[in-house]
Amino acid sequence: MEDELLTLLSETDGFISGEQLSDRLGITRSAVWKRINRLREKGYTIDSVTNKGYRLLKEERGELYGKRLKEAFDEIPGDFWKTMIFKDVIDSSNLECKRYIQEHPGCEGVVVFCEQQTAGRGRRGRTWVSPPGSGIYMSMIIQPDFPASKAPMMTLLAGMAVRRSIEEVYGISPSIKWPNDIILSDRKVCGILTEMTMEDMTISGVVIGIGINVNNNAFGEELKEVATSIAMETGTEQPDRAALAVKVLEWFEVYLNRFRETQDLSGVMEEYNAHCINTGKRVRVLLRDGEYEALARGIRPDGELEVKLDDGTITGVSSGEVTIRGVMGYAK
Ligand code: BTN
Repeated sequence: MEDELLTLLSETDGFISGEQLSDRLGITRSAVWKRINRLREKGYTIDSVTNKGYRLLKEERGELYGKRLKEAFDEIPGDFWKTMIFKDVIDSSNLECKRYIQEHPGCEGVVVFCEQQTAGRGRRGRTWVSPPGSGIYMSMIIQPDFPASKAPMMTLLAGMAVRRSIEEVYGISPSIKWPNDIILSDRKVCGILTEMTMEDMTISGVVIGIGINVNNNAFGEELKEVATSIAMETGTEQPDRAALAVKVLEWFEVYLNRFRETQDLSGVMEEYNAHCINTGKRVRVLLRDGEYEALARGIRPDGELEVKLDDGTITGVSSGEVTIRGVMGYAK
């Protein structure tokens, strides 16, 4: 039934009234309303205007988005970014990158964008819901000139690139929740998943996948307290996805070069700590088998979060091991 509703909305140019929808679907107007909300929870952007009805946001979708990405990609200065791939629908841009590495050993400076993912991957085995039209789903390939233990640092660099790009493109200043959630109004606007491919026991490539909530105008029950989008924060009807996505590539290259100079985060940590929401605050460190509270002091050159325990001990927390919560909630 939701599929039928989606088809009707997609086939309509402009608005379709609640009455027409209820006639066509043979359900009441309040049932139409509930189903519209269910589609919104899945990430579809649907406007509702009194006396006009409902309108599915379709502009800048698919081909047009791909075209705009390509144009902006071709304008990136320098020669680090070599290959841009755009797919309309894909299982996961991270998986596409892993397949690409197998076919093109040694590749670097490759980015895969897509309009929609059918099996978007989140951290800790979670899924990343990726409907068309609302998000940026992108994955970048780099060649590691570092051991596997340093790969998590790529996630921090990508987080910095997203933060800086949102600031430049939309004029709003997000924070970073260590290690890599990008935060606006105490809610998550972006998630990052770094994965490695291995060949003969050595890393053959690093894939850094970024998901940014851009056009979403609502989130489902599970996410509504912790997620937000650029549209919700700026009140802009259709924020420019292509401009932001390509800006992220430019900034990522800048931060990666700084990393490559020292093989650690010493060249970027001052900026990271200045924007890290946890710096100077009490955090709850959630371990697999317990939790404790401590004062966060910012990241160390290796990307660990330095914390001061209540007995005065200073120690580092590594991102693979723990989850951090503000003591007042998700990011506070
Ligand atoms: C998180 O759980 O916070 C990380 C989410 C990462 C999602 C992005 S979307 C593009 C790329 N492809 C995927 O399958 N996942 C990442």
